[in-house]
Amino acid sequence: MSAHRIAVIAGDGIGPEVVREGLRVLKAASEQFGFRYELTEYPHGTEHWLKTGDIMPDAELEEVSGHDAVLLGAIGDPRAPVGEIERGIIGRLRWDLDLFVNLRPIKLHDSRFCPLKDTVPEDVDMVVVRENTEDAYVHPASFENQNGPDEVAEQPMRYTRLGTERIIRYAFEMATSRPRKKLTLVDKANAVRAQDLYTRVFEEISGEYPDVETDHAYIDAACMWLVKNPSFFDVVVTTNLFGDILTDLGAMVQGGMGVAASANLHPGKLGLFEPIHGSFPKASGQNTANPIATISAIGMMLSYLGESEAATAVEGAIASLLQSGRITSLSAGALPTDALGTLVLEELAAVTVK
Ligand code: IPM
Ligand code: MG
Repeated sequence: MSAHRIAVIAGDGIGPEVVREGLRVLKAASEQFGFRYELTEYPHGTEHWLKTGDIMPDAELEEVSGHDAVLLGAIGDPRAPVGEIERGIIGRLRWDLDLFVNLRPIKLHDSRFCPLKDTVPEDVDMVVVRENTEDAYVHPASFENQNGPDEVAEQPMRYTRLGTERIIRYAFEMATSRPRKKLTLVDKANAVRAQDLYTRVFEEISGEYPDVETDHAYIDAACMWLVKNPSFFDVVVTTNLFGDILTDLGAMVQGGMGVAASANLHPGKLGLFEPIHGSFPKASGQNTANPIATISAIGMMLSYLGESEAATAVEGAIASLLQSGRITSLSAGALPTDALGTLVLEELAAVTVK
């Protein structure tokens, strides 16, 4: 079988450290499960921009898009104007490659890592399907009369029927493939009336999936439910901005930013896999960041590349490590980054022997 071609953008802050551990696990998995891969490493990020003035030139974006998958560490550094490098790298990869699904599983592996009282793993097993190409994110901000007393700042929450339909359909497909078959639409259509488009399209498409139980929550209530009763949720579909916010909350419920992974997808195209955490610039280079989120993103990548045995083993290794009592905290600094990588590798080897 031909080698999987993987583009790697380690990026800023803790990105290179967590990616390094992810790649150790990828290498071990390839040896254990006998698949081949080739890496192309890209230097893009704030440091590269400071040195060269390039964020992500068209030619490189084109080259990256020729791979089977992209692994991204993190982007964001206070030396650059706020949001500029994020927009130029993460934004362009998501939007220009039309990766319209941002898939964010939220799964608790062991009660000890959940900050919520009396919450057990059975209560927290959901997937957020975040729309990834529309909303306030993608439109440039405009500032009229900047710094004047009558300044007006604007950035539209704009949704298209095509964008809304394809994400809602994807979420229904996901819901129908899961045992619970429940899909909750999360929006704020009572205040952002433009999101009535989501309400209508959700209703229309639900007719095609009679086996899926549907539900609805406004984003504020969804945050409340995620803390009060996370078992309310199975699959959630939501807009870009609300999906961003809800999944940081979800990450905490599943144990913290150190374990939450995501996949940016467009079925039939390449996938982009990344931890959902940011670049944590203050911790950069200290070997304190938790690499489990990135390793879990590697698991999602292997699944997308069709290496399902290896994917199951990587996810299983993370689960058994978290359940084993070998680590008691997932916070940054609790254990060195490379030591955590080594623990996952040990569990991975054990999973394979079974
Ligand atoms: C995420 C991140 C990004 C986002 C930032 C870095 C632009 O928070 O992937 O959740 O808001 O989408
Ligand atoms: Mg985010």
